[in-house]
Amino acid sequence: MSIRLRLLLSYTSMLIVTIVLFLVAGLLLSVAMTGDVSRIKNVYTSHYAVEPISPQEEAVYLDVKYYVKNQPDQLLNTKVLEELDHRLVPAEAGLFMRKGSTVLYTSTLASLRDQVSSLPPIETSNIKVRDTIHAADGRYFTYLKFDFTFPDKSEGSVYMLKEVSPYAEVTRSLLPILIGVLLLLLVLTNGLLHFLVTRSIVRPLLALREAAGKIKEGELNFEVNSEARDEIGMLSQSFEDMRKRLKDSVDVQLQYEENRKELVSNISHDLKTPITTIIGYVEGIRDGVAGTPEKLDNYLATIHRKAKDMDHLIDELFLFSKLDLKKWPFTFAVIDLERYLQDYAEELHFDMEQKEIQLIFTCPQQSGDGYPVMADWDKLKRVIANIVGNSVKCMDKSEKRIDIALLAVGEDCLVRISDNGCGMPDSALPHIFDRFFREDASRHSPGTGLGLAIAKQIITEHKGRIWAESELGRGTDIYFTLPRWKERSEEHNEAHPNYRG
Ligand SMILES: Nc1ncnc2c1ncn2[C@@H]1O[C@H](COP(=O)(O)OP(=O)(O)OP(=O)(O)O)[C@@H](O)[C@H]1O
Ligand SMILES: [Mg+2]
Repeated sequence: MSIRLRLLLSYTSMLIVTIVLFLVAGLLLSVAMTGDVSRIKNVYTSHYAVEPISPQEEAVYLDVKYYVKNQPDQLLNTKVLEELDHRLVPAEAGLFMRKGSTVLYTSTLASLRDQVSSLPPIETSNIKVRDTIHAADGRYFTYLKFDFTFPDKSEGSVYMLKEVSPYAEVTRSLLPILIGVLLLLLVLTNGLLHFLVTRSIVRPLLALREAAGKIKEGELNFEVNSEARDEIGMLSQSFEDMRKRLKDSVDVQLQYEENRKELVSNISHDLKTPITTIIGYVEGIRDGVAGTPEKLDNYLATIHRKAKDMDHLIDELFLFSKLDLKKWPFTFAVIDLERYLQDYAEELHFDMEQKEIQLIFTCPQQSGDGYPVMADWDKLKRVIANIVGNSVKCMDKSEKRIDIALLAVGEDCLVRISDNGCGMPDSALPHIFDRFFREDASRHSPGTGLGLAIAKQIITEHKGRIWAESELGRGTDIYFTLPRWKERSEEHNEAHPNYRG
């Protein structure tokens, strides 16, 4: 059974139950008020039967009956009538008396002087003594009357009248229509509720079904939107999260696939070039092209250089793939970065002097705690060596300079390695950390294009960031950060799952 049908059934049954309860409540109420099941049918036609008369009205009524039977002359005495009328004032009722069509007395409270025609005909058997009259001037009165015969045989009536609200009477006369309207409203409200609830439940479910169908077909480029804040909204949100996750993993898969293809093509290309050169030179030697010992030396030196390039490429590739597969374990230990860089600069000093490069290390901010970082000693060296190696390769000025600076920035230690070399164009900057990226091999000695990719892998593993700024002709600044180590050991253990220091 569909949700729509189930909801329709539940709403209809609620509607029926409401109507039945409504009727039973009405029935019980009227039984309680009239005390008689057989009189229920009269409740509507003569509702004043259920309204008890006041003690004053009852007393005056009994007195009137007494006068009729024993002293009918008294009823012609205005003083007596005035006294009876006065007794009715607390009950907000008034006395009225007629003889035939002549008005003998009418109370000021319920004056019916010109309304005799509105009164019911005289009926001395007094079967129906209570009812309502609608006067010709629009007023409504409830009455308790007594019809009798005067000593002169003419007929007359005594009324105890009480004016009632015309609305009550109008309501009474319109009651069947009002009840009908109420029932109609009940049915319409139920119908509307059913429509709204069904729409708010079934619509998103249909949208989810459609979304599931799309996912089944492999289509993930859409959005499951739901503004509802209820369970269905939560379900839609979970569905949307699932779609996003699925899409991300498919994208990553595609990216991996793309990377793999690119990697194979780059490796093939980078190995092919030196091998072609080596083959050419070996064939040259074999064919006797290298006739002189100098030429032979030259050929062999080129073969040796190309073979070393290949060896370097394979080493770098191997390293990069180990890093990529997380197969090169990191050995983290707390290092004072200032000391570390200072030592490293001294270590490089001789080498740099040979190359006529001035390498300067500075640490302008004095930090009380030093610059402790949790790092892998050797791998960090690899990062700096790769960056400094690039600077050396790109030197094109007569006064060559490399500056290493250590700064504290927020929670991080920032290392800046600047050179005054050839720099690089803005277009190259976003790609230099990609593997196999070489901006322009002709401008300096060619490399593998893996140096900065390896540096980035290592820094990322240290939970740091690496980036570059450069200007063609001015030089290049490479920055990397390492989180400053804090005394709380659980923090760095968590930050470095490979921590074994
Ligand atoms: N200091 C620098 N000055 C100018 N260009 C740079 C500098 N550092 C990097 N580059 C550019 O970024 C590219 C990528 O550098 P990366 O170190 O990854 O590769 P590589 O130096 O070509 O190869 P490898 O480091 O393996 O020998 C370089 O080819 C060069 O174009
Ligand atoms: Mg390099």
